[in-house]
Amino acid sequence: MQVGARFDELREQALAELAACADERALEAWRAAWLGRQDGRITLLLRSVKDQPPDERPAFGKAANALRAELEDALEAKRQELKERALRELATLRALDVTLPGRRPTRGTLHPVTQTLRDCIRAFEAMGFRVFEGPEVEWAYYNFDAVRIPEDHPARDMWDTLWVDALVDGERKMLLRTHTSPNQIRVLERHAPPIRVIVPGKCYRQEATDATHEWMLTQIEGLAVDEGVRMSDLKGVLYDFARRIFGHDRRIIFHHSYFPFVEPGVEMAIDCFRCRGSGAECPTCHGSGWIEILGAGMVHPEIIANAGLDPSRYTGFAFGLGIERVAMLRWGIEDIRHFYQNDLRFLRQF
Ligand code: DAH
Repeated sequence: MQVGARFDELREQALAELAACADERALEAWRAAWLGRQDGRITLLLRSVKDQPPDERPAFGKAANALRAELEDALEAKRQELKERALRELATLRALDVTLPGRRPTRGTLHPVTQTLRDCIRAFEAMGFRVFEGPEVEWAYYNFDAVRIPEDHPARDMWDTLWVDALVDGERKMLLRTHTSPNQIRVLERHAPPIRVIVPGKCYRQEATDATHEWMLTQIEGLAVDEGVRMSDLKGVLYDFARRIFGHDRRIIFHHSYFPFVEPGVEMAIDCFRCRGSGAECPTCHGSGWIEILGAGMVHPEIIANAGLDPSRYTGFAFGLGIERVAMLRWGIEDIRHFYQNDLRFLRQF
């Protein structure tokens, strides 16, 4: 038989068997049978070159090598085809591979100011205060006039207050509230004593920022109005609050201060977390040993009267607490600006 014809027959048989292979295993069996190093048929064929008549050997060898190359290519093509078919099947029939390990979602935490705000709210709620909310865009009337901050008071200056441009009766009368105190009035307009509310929320001031000042701050306003509410009630509530938030071993001090909407007015301070009152060079309390956290006082009788209540019968206390300050004290944070710079290296610590 001619060399060429013999090889044609082999080729046809090999390719037919390859075409019938349906999976990787069949493919492997075919490879071993035809191209296997030990006794694959083509391997044997190549080994038999030396048994051929001398003048046929070159043509035989060349044809055998060509056939081997052709079958190797065919095998590779078939392997590729099977792989692609398997992938297509996977994509359509089993698009969801439930055996793959899941991707763990990164878990966030609440912002430290939010955590502190919630803890403070909880402390007051435990003492019977209810939560009330007021608008961040406020009327100048509530923010200033109604809480006895007169027209010429420096707090009204352009420099302190972020005014809304819209004019009402030719004047700017709306602003971003500079404190939560206007809600004292809003609550008194709507509710009758006994009143015990807290009003949490953001406030805005146009300020040159530094370690303890930001143009946005979070406050909780407190208001209690009833018959016979006294300064000792205010102190009791604030002591209890401070213990709930800072623990039992912290010291608290009240001293006199002035706010137009209370009489008398006080400020409450807590012993410095850094030096505990001992270090004259402490950068946090500047050597005083105390850090202010809130303003408070007995609601001014004029405000009680404006609410339609008899000030000889009804009295009340109010307080305004700075939440960023509380968060700084709790965790020993030196600079208020960290809170709103969105630096994950800072935020991940809470
Ligand atoms: N509103 C004051 C401020 O933002 C804080 C304050 C002081 C609130 C005394 C009060 C208070 O209710 O009685 O600086």
